[in-house]
Amino acid sequence: GQRIAIISAVHEELAEILQLMPDEQKRVAGGRTFWSGHLQGHEVVAVLSGIGKVAAATTATVLCERFEPQQVIFTGVAGGLALGVEVGDIVVGSAFMQHDLDASPLFPRWEVPGYGASRFKADMALAQVLHAAARDAVTWLPKLLDEAVLRGLGLHAPSVHQGEIVTGDRFVATAAECAALRASLPEALAVDMESAAVAQVCHDYGVPFAAVRTISDRADDEAHVDFQHFLQQVARHYSGRIVRKALNLL
Ligand code: ADE
Repeated sequence: GQRIAIISAVHEELAEILQLMPDEQKRVAGGRTFWSGHLQGHEVVAVLSGIGKVAAATTATVLCERFEPQQVIFTGVAGGLALGVEVGDIVVGSAFMQHDLDASPLFPRWEVPGYGASRFKADMALAQVLHAAARDAVTWLPKLLDEAVLRGLGLHAPSVHQGEIVTGDRFVATAAECAALRASLPEALAVDMESAAVAQVCHDYGVPFAAVRTISDRADDEAHVDFQHFLQQVARHYSGRIVRKALNLL
């Protein structure tokens, strides 16, 4: 069988998935806890990366070296950048780039030195599975979430998007910074702090990678408040539902 790795940055994003893995065994490596077990009949290894590109890259490296997964999925939350990418929507990454990478004038803005490119593409087959799982999840989640939670977050009829996710070592928490990112990277649907780092490591190891991100905030002046609420009350249900469905489809 295939070993499938599930990475999230923080516990709230992985909590429901770990609950669904009854037989998991813990192993600590590189300062990270890896949970090996089964989910929906698949051999799974789940791990928390922590926040930021370095934490994500070291986690992905230890994962690939020690656990040799055949596929890697990142699941978590992100800030919405593009117009129409709202809180409660889901973004499936088709490509990943580091918005804070700049080795100019030696290399073009955003290019990863040594790779001759700024973007790492998702594995298309895996991304399609995540997209199908996300479409299934948005039909169920409004029914599963508490009414008060839904109203408080202003969630109605969430939609699923597929496109570019940008990553950087910044929590984008002002309307001005959000607008600047949107202007310089008009393709970007969402911003996070890990996906592109994991994508680069998976590229190095030749392991198929895809990421699915639920929008917790609009990366604006209210981002820190929206992010906390979403992470504490909603994120685990999205991740759990999407990953479970995706594993059924794999
Ligand atoms: N993850 C969730 N929201 C984010 C934001 N506003 N900026 C960066 N990463 C995020």
